[in-house]
Amino acid sequence: MKPQIKPANPNFSSGPCSKRPGYDLTQLDTSTLGRSHRSSLGKAVLAESIEKTKAILGIPDDYRVGIVPGSDTGAMEMVMWSMLGARPVDVFHWESFGSGWLTDIVKQLKLTETNSYLAEYGELPDFTLANPEHDTVFTWNGTTSGVKVPNGDWISDQREGITICDATSAVFAMPMPWEKLDVVTYSWQKVLGGEGAHGVIVLSPKAVERLESYTPSWPLPKIFRMTKGGKLIEGIFKGETINTPSMLCVVDYIDALDWVAGLGGVDAAIEKSQTNLSVLSNFVDARDWIQFLAKEPEQRSNTSVCLTLDATAEQVKAMIKLLDGEGVAYDIGAYRDAPAGLRIWAGATVEASDLEALLPWLDWAYAEVTL
Ligand SMILES: Cc1ncc(COP(=O)(O)O)c(C=O)c1O
Repeated sequence: MKPQIKPANPNFSSGPCSKRPGYDLTQLDTSTLGRSHRSSLGKAVLAESIEKTKAILGIPDDYRVGIVPGSDTGAMEMVMWSMLGARPVDVFHWESFGSGWLTDIVKQLKLTETNSYLAEYGELPDFTLANPEHDTVFTWNGTTSGVKVPNGDWISDQREGITICDATSAVFAMPMPWEKLDVVTYSWQKVLGGEGAHGVIVLSPKAVERLESYTPSWPLPKIFRMTKGGKLIEGIFKGETINTPSMLCVVDYIDALDWVAGLGGVDAAIEKSQTNLSVLSNFVDARDWIQFLAKEPEQRSNTSVCLTLDATAEQVKAMIKLLDGEGVAYDIGAYRDAPAGLRIWAGATVEASDLEALLPWLDWAYAEVTL
């Protein structure tokens, strides 16, 4: 039977993710629009977004947070182009974005002393192979396979290399062991449902030391440069962005940060996301035609939940089209490079009640396409 109740919000995309509950564009403070981002007002608002980020995420005082161009990709590439090449690199990857960073390192930067540790979709590589004398590049949550790193225990506190972590679908949804991470990157449109455009880089003192002590042999575009005359450009980490940011995106980001604070902080956001995951887990556990792509329960993402079905790729496609047509779930198909299936965002901007409302529709649509 066709279900009667539809999710109040059918946006389950894994990026850009749903806006926060209660989001209202007209409530944004737009006093910075049409003003210079270098005006005292512009700089104050940019600095506010940085300060709030640090406070909400509990980032150590001696770490720097900067807003950079090019979303998460821009953040990761500026970091890799600026810092890699000083030591051999260990790359851990298990889905398309992590593998993209390996391509950058091997094919673009052409670093020959690179170790690739690859796992298939649904699994994690063996992190015990990380060499503390090497630099390490990895994603915290593999958005396209729904497999996350359960913890950072494998990262040595005595490491000499730096750890570079693409955490775009993890920050604000999973605990980040900041002391283990020298570089963390993310973008606003993921976990917070902010606007796409800018990236954030979080740098440890060790990462800054690398920037100030090492000059790569390749040319560095202005958009990637974080040092001048061998010293860190501190202004970047106080809101003096390298080039012009969208102040509309910045105030939208502040709105999302204030919402997280209002929820009870990042721990509350994490808990909400975990509750969302359990709504989906209970559904999957009670059915034999749908499974998590992630093999190990502790590695299951609580943001990008990837599910495989006992169905052909065509049937899955038909199911996604049906759900879209009914207006009950938008953008829930697996990523183009991942195994066919569903990918349902379960971060804190999604309400458990909307996931609950979606589930009977999954039963219905599956029956429709497999009859
Ligand atoms: C793990 C991961 N890294 C990088 C990206 C690229 O992010 P952006 O579009 O913000 O550059 C994504 C986007 O989905 C992602 O999931």
